[in-house]
Amino acid sequence: MPTAGNRKAGATPFYAHIVGWGMAVPETVMTNDDLATFVDTNDDWIRSRTGIRERHIASERESTATLGLKAAQAALECADILPIELDLVIVATSTPENIFPSTASLIQDRLGATRAGAFDLSAACSGFVYGVNMASQAIRTGSIQTALVIGAETMSRVMNWQDRNTCVLFGDGAGAVVLRAGEDEGGVLSAVLRSDGGGADLLGIPTIGSVDTLGMLDNGHTMHKMHMNGSEVFKFATRVIGESILQAVDLAGITMNELRLIVPHQANERIIQAAARHLKIDPTLFVTNLDRYGNTSAASIPIALCEAVQTGRVKMGEHLAFVGFGGGLTWASMIVKWSAPQSVDQTLLKRQRRQFSYTLARWRAALRRISRRINDFFGALNPARRRLARLRRKIDAIDTI
Ligand code: COA
Repeated sequence: MPTAGNRKAGATPFYAHIVGWGMAVPETVMTNDDLATFVDTNDDWIRSRTGIRERHIASERESTATLGLKAAQAALECADILPIELDLVIVATSTPENIFPSTASLIQDRLGATRAGAFDLSAACSGFVYGVNMASQAIRTGSIQTALVIGAETMSRVMNWQDRNTCVLFGDGAGAVVLRAGEDEGGVLSAVLRSDGGGADLLGIPTIGSVDTLGMLDNGHTMHKMHMNGSEVFKFATRVIGESILQAVDLAGITMNELRLIVPHQANERIIQAAARHLKIDPTLFVTNLDRYGNTSAASIPIALCEAVQTGRVKMGEHLAFVGFGGGLTWASMIVKWSAPQSVDQTLLKRQRRQFSYTLARWRAALRRISRRINDFFGALNPARRRLARLRRKIDAIDTI
């Protein structure tokens, strides 16, 4: 792994190319009619005000990490790289498995990405664009070569299912991209990241460190459940999408006419249409799939990107924009020159090595659990414990599969 210090002055700059992508959504689908059976709403209202028809909801056995892991594996498959090649794993999420350890660390472990750093990033629905920018900057400075950026959410776990103002809007899912250093011009060209904490009360999920926990605030918020001022968020979103895309286009040194596709955060069909009017562009330039997934927060942009690539809407050499907005308030736009071929010729050997890496990661985790139990039971000097520790060290050492 090169470090910034290894880069010679005047060396050819690295570009951060998106070379793999993947997505995962839970199997269970909840339609608007399903929702209407337990909350006072109806299909007609939800469709006409938001464009949403249905959303995917995580089962008891699914979580932010399991969905993120599946999306990550699909992205590694697509890029045809090994987990061991990853230098960094970032998970953008508002519904992490824990405050710590990070969901990124859990996924890093389950992949067997034993040479990667990992952290979660909290920027609500803008998180994926923030994460891709962090990873691409690290690549461009030469600090790392390969990064995995995941947007993953189980929004269903932070919904108040009696609150029709919010529960009809959100869904669960995950999307991921692999970024890699390359010397050819392209990849992430520009990014505009913004925040206005003055709007913090418009959209949020209070949690453990909050003054709300102490019952100090009489604001009607419920711990670990989402609250939202829909109309104010609507106005904010329609304003910042257009503004930040124009800024990112300018920074990338291109014109709006050169943009072939915009992959926006999927919150509301009417927000996207208003943004298109503001930018005076054809609304079909925007990718929309929120009718099938609802708002999956940080996962929505990578899921929409995956579907756009899979349906042939993204072509080599074309410029596209990502734009996210959400709690914080935060918002972010990014211009990418698409540099990935339509498909990669995967090598059988690498596919097998990836599978082996996942199996090895499971073994490593199981051995760790067993050796801890034996340790607790017999104490530190037990021979069985020492043998297990030796076996674990051997498995840990297998990192060049
Ligand atoms: N089903 C039926 N009626 C509903 C409803 C639902 N799920 N939710 C709200 N209503 C009712 C309201 O109670 C209100 O009734 P009233 O007129 O009798 O008081 C009426 O519908 C209109 O409510 P309003 O909030 O003005 O609707 P709206 O057209 O502004 O749409 C949102 C509401 C939430 C869809 C819209 O404001 C929005 O999309 N905001 C942005 C939200 C967002 O994207 N958040 C995430 C950002 S990352």
